Amino acid sequence: MDLQMAELKINEIKSLLNQYGYDYYVLDKPSVPDAEYDKLMNELLELEEKFPALKTSDSPTVRVGGAILDLFEKVEHRTPMLSLGNAFNEQDLRDFDRKIRQTVGEDFSYVCELKIDGLAVSLRYEDGLFVQGATRGDGSIGEDITANLKTIHSVPLRLRETVSIEVRGEAYMPKRSFELLNKVREERGEELFANPRNAAAGSLRQLDPKIAASRKLDVFLYGIGNPEAIEVGAHSEGLHYLDHLGFKTNKERQTCATIEEVLEYVNGWVEKRPNLPYEIDGIVIKVDSLEQQAVLGTTAKSPRWAIAYKFPAEEVVTTLLDIELSVGRTGVITPTALLEPVKVAGTTVQRSSLHNEDLIREKDIKIGDKVVVKKAGDIIPEVVNVLADQRTGNEVDFHMPTHCPECESELIRLEGEVALRCINPKCPAQIREGLIHFVSRNAMNIDGLGEKVISQLFAEKLITDVADIYKLTREQLLALERMGEKSVTNLLKAIEASKANSLDKLLFGLGIRHVGAKAAKTLAQQFHSMGQLAQASKEELVAVDEIGDKMADSIVSFFEQDEAQDLIQELVTVGVNMEYKGARPVSAEESDSVFAGKTVVLTGKLEQLSRNEAKERIEALGGNVAGSVSKKTHLVIAGEDAGSKLAKAQELGIEVWDEEKLLVELNK
Ligand code: IVH
Repeated sequence: MDLQMAELKINEIKSLLNQYGYDYYVLDKPSVPDAEYDKLMNELLELEEKFPALKTSDSPTVRVGGAILDLFEKVEHRTPMLSLGNAFNEQDLRDFDRKIRQTVGEDFSYVCELKIDGLAVSLRYEDGLFVQGATRGDGSIGEDITANLKTIHSVPLRLRETVSIEVRGEAYMPKRSFELLNKVREERGEELFANPRNAAAGSLRQLDPKIAASRKLDVFLYGIGNPEAIEVGAHSEGLHYLDHLGFKTNKERQTCATIEEVLEYVNGWVEKRPNLPYEIDGIVIKVDSLEQQAVLGTTAKSPRWAIAYKFPAEEVVTTLLDIELSVGRTGVITPTALLEPVKVAGTTVQRSSLHNEDLIREKDIKIGDKVVVKKAGDIIPEVVNVLADQRTGNEVDFHMPTHCPECESELIRLEGEVALRCINPKCPAQIREGLIHFVSRNAMNIDGLGEKVISQLFAEKLITDVADIYKLTREQLLALERMGEKSVTNLLKAIEASKANSLDKLLFGLGIRHVGAKAAKTLAQQFHSMGQLAQASKEELVAVDEIGDKMADSIVSFFEQDEAQDLIQELVTVGVNMEYKGARPVSAEESDSVFAGKTVVLTGKLEQLSRNEAKERIEALGGNVAGSVSKKTHLVIAGEDAGSKLAKAQELGIEVWDEEKLLVELNK
């Protein structure tokens, strides 16, 4: 066979395999016997082996898994992957509905979907070709797991149109695959996965794509990351379009006109949930119209147009065996309940934070008690209450110690706080926890430097402060337990890469009291470099939105300490970046545009700009786009068919522009 013939043959087999694969994996309707599919696949594998030049990145043979990776590259999401606010009961859902109606009026509908319990993924297609797949990560930066995602048969390698699109969805492990996987692992004496979600996440985090290929994962796509690039007006149309492109979407979705219908859908699934072939942990409720979604907007973390209803948590009874104490990064002493291991909502629980002594008193917890345990938000185990009537008399009262369990300094209860603290700045436990915080995901995000490795390095005195992390040598790391050549190489790479992190990550990592991840970002945006922040006065700090007195005091006193200055100097010396890398927002005062500091409302249909574009451009010029007209509104932009908002603006005497005038001002 010559090259040309082979190419024809390969294309013919590929298109058959794609069709059969689509029927089987996406539509769940096999169109040929498995043996026929396997025969064609083998034929294709052979042809590609003979004519390697003809092997393409979208060949069905890539599903078997390609070369082993060294590490997962980081991927910056083009649009952030947000998470959802939660509703735990009917009232939460009614509150959500009320707020929506307050903003967009009565004329709208919801789409209800199953909340698949897996792992959020983003798939990027260019001209119809699957080019990159990533995990959610921290929402802005995820990990490139393209090779693993290609092994999932329902992830199309090529779409039915040559579009460039980013789609979002949930990769998951069907219940049956999970049971089979654990059965095999049990037979081999391997550790079992606690639940399908962990198994899916664990499989997609394997550097060897052949392992992911063997795990029988699946995916449901539920959204478009760049809807403005696609001509759809509603979420439901977007899902249709995804079906049309060849994606697998979940067919249990339903449009609901009212919150009553939503509640009916939710309650129906509480009953039907156990019969599904995959795990769900709730229901997602979304406003359908994209225009209304844009009006509702998003908070920093989640959209205001959607909410996740979480099914009630499972509760179980177990025995509280003992209470253990630990010292946190800020010196707070936390009591933790050690429980007789028990299965709750899919995982085995044996520890649960009791937070502080007041809570122990309030719940009247004694060592040896029978306790009710649940997982709050289905993740963090919590002792709900004590079964006091089952006491035998052998239970023992618990008292907090007077001295630090780690350094033996006297513990202090600060005014207005419930927590007991160790205030010895040299307390080894606090230093160790500070180091663990520095490398954690929302801080410097150094993969491979987890709690265990840090604890070892600290115990061996190889690191005493965060700058020491950057001085670690290959030999020192190789001498640690369970560290081979490959993990050391990866770890050194990750440490090196973290030097380039933006200032906000570093600021958060330093663990300045009261400065959380969000405040760190605000500070970095505002002051731009460590040097400028270090010189900021309290007045300059509190002048920044979201920075209060307490935080400002804490920042000033942090930078006054000689130790802090020395540490920063050392970090500079080892090459850690001290600058903010994101875009700086235009403050209202700085912007000399007419939109600066103005509250603008968009209404009616715009011809030349999408709602989102208009909003983004007004905001970029220092304006603030709101959803409803009030006395505080400065300006209303009225497109075609503008309705009640325009009437209200006229009633209140607010300035009204048409789209043309808007464009003129935006382009000035
Ligand atoms: S929509 C901006 N729809 O639930 C809204 N999420 O915090 C993006 N999830 O991990 C989410 N099923 O991956 C949406 N039908 C569904 C979903 C769903 C599962 C996951 C999502 C994320 C979490 C939401």
